[in-house]
Amino acid sequence: MPPHPDIALPRLIAHRGLSAHAPENTLAAVRAAYDIGCHWVELDVQLLGDGTPVIWHDPTLKRCSDGHGRLSRLRLAEARGLDVGAWFSDAFRGERMATLANMLDLLASLDMGVNLELKVGRNRSGTELADAVIPRLLDAIPPERIILSSFDMAALHHARSLADASRLPIGVLTESIPQKWQPRCETLDAISVHTDWTRLTAQRAREIKDAGYRLLCYTPNDPAAFARHWLWGVDSAISDDPGCFAGIAPPPALPPAAG
Ligand code: G3P
Ligand code: MG
Repeated sequence: MPPHPDIALPRLIAHRGLSAHAPENTLAAVRAAYDIGCHWVELDVQLLGDGTPVIWHDPTLKRCSDGHGRLSRLRLAEARGLDVGAWFSDAFRGERMATLANMLDLLASLDMGVNLELKVGRNRSGTELADAVIPRLLDAIPPERIILSSFDMAALHHARSLADASRLPIGVLTESIPQKWQPRCETLDAISVHTDWTRLTAQRAREIKDAGYRLLCYTPNDPAAFARHWLWGVDSAISDDPGCFAGIAPPPALPPAAG
């Protein structure tokens, strides 16, 4: 089994970029995260109808753009005409949907880390998504600054078939961690487990840490409520508003277990 890259994972990761203060999953949201000193971001990626990978969360356009309809019906030329910032505030009017290529260029230029989530919608192909994303991701970002995650196990298995664990760190993403979480991690040679912080238990956290995995929680935005999770061994919080943790700072990160 190849060793995992030595990832210096920060305590705080900006969810969909700095999404409390900028339109989620945009270049502006990533720059905003960088500007507050948050150098890792979580981002969602999926495919347009023409196969272009773009940074987007929803299956539809309505919530986060001036368009409507399904992302899967859109072509790149149409996507480029959408405003994806004005829905958030006037300050971001004119923001354009980021392709994966646009986003990787920005991340690479800022030496940022990314937890890239393969977002596989209903009736969409996780393997097609992985095929479109993984080669571009590996070309642009060194393995020490990547964690690829997904709720979709088929997508992750296909991603793993494209690159081994020394090149592509993979995180298993679950809403709540199942009892048999470990075989899932082992079959993927995963580096980390990512879960909804409100559903994590101290016992499950201990099991995961004792087995040598990184443990990441989404999406805590209340540092006081989250404080005990640091004591359970959580490595990183994926927050919409990492700056809000300034008053109740997490304890210093421990070095990762070897392997
Ligand atoms: O990757 C963690 C988190 O982003 C998963 O949920 O719906 O915000 O993509 P969602
Ligand atoms: Mg996500």
